[in-house]
Order: sequence, then C-alpha cells, then structure tokens
Amino acid sequence: MGEVDPACIQDTQHRPKLAVIEAEGIPLIDLSSANAFNHVSQIADACKNWGFFQVINHGVPSESRRKIEDAARKFFALPLEEKRKVSRDEVNPLGYFDTEHTKNVRDWKEVFDLVVSSPAFIPASPDPDEKELNELINQWPQYPPELREVCEEYAREMEKLAFKLLGLISLSLGFPENRFNLLFEESTNFIRFNHYPPCPIPHLALGAGRHKDGVALTILAQDDVGGLQVKLKTNGEWVRVKPTPDTYIINVGDIVQVWSNDTFESVEHRVMVNSEGERFSIPFFFSPGHHVWVKPLEELTKGEKPKYRAYN
Ligand code: OGA
Ligand code: NI
Repeated sequence: MGEVDPACIQDTQHRPKLAVIEAEGIPLIDLSSANAFNHVSQIADACKNWGFFQVINHGVPSESRRKIEDAARKFFALPLEEKRKVSRDEVNPLGYFDTEHTKNVRDWKEVFDLVVSSPAFIPASPDPDEKELNELINQWPQYPPELREVCEEYAREMEKLAFKLLGLISLSLGFPENRFNLLFEESTNFIRFNHYPPCPIPHLALGAGRHKDGVALTILAQDDVGGLQVKLKTNGEWVRVKPTPDTYIINVGDIVQVWSNDTFESVEHRVMVNSEGERFSIPFFFSPGHHVWVKPLEELTKGEKPKYRAYN
C-alpha cells in the first residue's frame, strides 16, 4: 500500500479530524465472578447508551491471545505474492484480501478471514427462497505453520466468551440467560485479522470506513496503537476507544438490534490510521446459524410494534 490509491480518499464530510475528543471512554466491565451481581445492569446500560463496552477478567488466557496476535503479524509480514496465494476470489470469500471497500471508498488495510468451523455453509444468495448453500472453506497459508492450531484454540476461547456475553445480554433484556442459545447451535462465526499499515495521508483516508457490524456480537482484540472510533449516540461525535491492555471490546451488531426491537442498537464505528506506525486488530464475529430467521422477539412484540421484518 506504498502509493496512495485515489480510491482511498474519503469525501470531505467523512475525513477524520486528527485531534479527536478523548471522552472518558466506553464502559469497562469486570467479568470476574465476584461482580456477577452488577454485570447485568452494567451491560444493559452499556448496550443502551453506547452499543459498545470493554471487558476485563473475561477468562480468555492472555497466552492464546498473544499467540494469535503473533501469528497474524507473521502472516502479514510475508511478501505480497505469498499472501496472494491464499487470496479470496469469486467462489471463496475466505482468505487474504487487500482491496476492501466500505461504502465505495477503499479501506487502508489488508485482512485475512477464516471461519471457526470449516466447512461452514451460507445461503447461495440473499433470496428468501434460496435453498442452495455455499460451502466456505478456510485457506491456510504455509507460513506461519502454527496458524491453524493457534486460530482453532483462540476460536474455542472466543466462543466461550461469546456465550457468556450472550447470556448476560439476554438477562439484561429481561429474558432467561439461555434464551438465545438454541439459535447459535450451528453458528457461523468468523475470525478476521486486520492489518492497518502506516498511511501517508491519515487525514484523508480511513483504515475502515464508518460501518455497523451485521452480526450478533463482535469481540475485538486491538493492539496498543489505537485508532478505533465509535459514534456517540448522544451527539454524533466520534470518540476514540483508548487501548487498555488485556481487555476485549464488545459491540452488539445488527442482529441483536433486530432481536431486541431497537432496545439495543448496533452503533457505527470506524478506524483511523496514522503515518507513524502500523496497527493490528482481530475481531471475532458471532452469528446465529444460517437457517435462523432474524426478527424482533415475540416476547417483546406482544407489547410493542415489531420494527423489522424477518430476514436471514
Ligand atoms: C471490523 C472493525 C475495528 C478495528 O473489522 O468490523 O470494526 O479496530 N474493526 O479494527
Ligand atoms: Ni466493525
């Protein structure tokens, strides 16, 4: 990404201000069991007012995170021709990709995508009557050789944390803890490696343009560089999410917004880049199985009008 591709230039209104207000930040929730009593109300507040929160004492061993972060760095340090050997293509959306666009502007980043249980299946088209399924197959690079094992171990840890969070979200909506569990029986979960190289024009480009996550929940590991910004629900300002060591950043995605009939909203976020250094992040995207029709939950729509029609 040495030369500046004009496709990376953001429209004036979307360019990041380089001096960003550093609000006190998204809520930090301590998941250690001593505090269990408070989790539900803390999560309800965070999901209502921010759409984002961070967790500490989450139970994910720091060793599995360190290993996957190392492996991601090693992979992206490979020559481009090596990375392109596992490129995504028209048939397979998994693997390496360096020309992601968000809202038609090219993102200043490269990514590597994999599914947690491979092969995974998704409907071949968005048509509601589509019966055909496409198989998603992971593409493992030769180097680093430990990548696959490290990802599989990390994925197991992420699923444990995701189910813990799902239970708390369910409780905070007033449902039993296991209300959503059946819907995740054949969940289609992705891990993405993001690499944001240094950028000579950080005031004109974005590492990831503003977007919402289409999934149920995202669990993000970011490194110590910083760059993630969240759009405040109160006044629409972009605030930076300051990196805190050994925490994960959680956001509810569009699916939780629909299930909760807008009680919890999926919030816009984006990534700033900088000219000095590179940045890495690893989101885990948690979604129900492809057969699940997503719609506002019946328990809620007895008393209120459903705001969405079912989709899958
Ligand atoms: C994403 C995302 C944020 C980050 O991959 O959907 O929002 O900090 N990433 O990399
Ligand atoms: Ni995102």
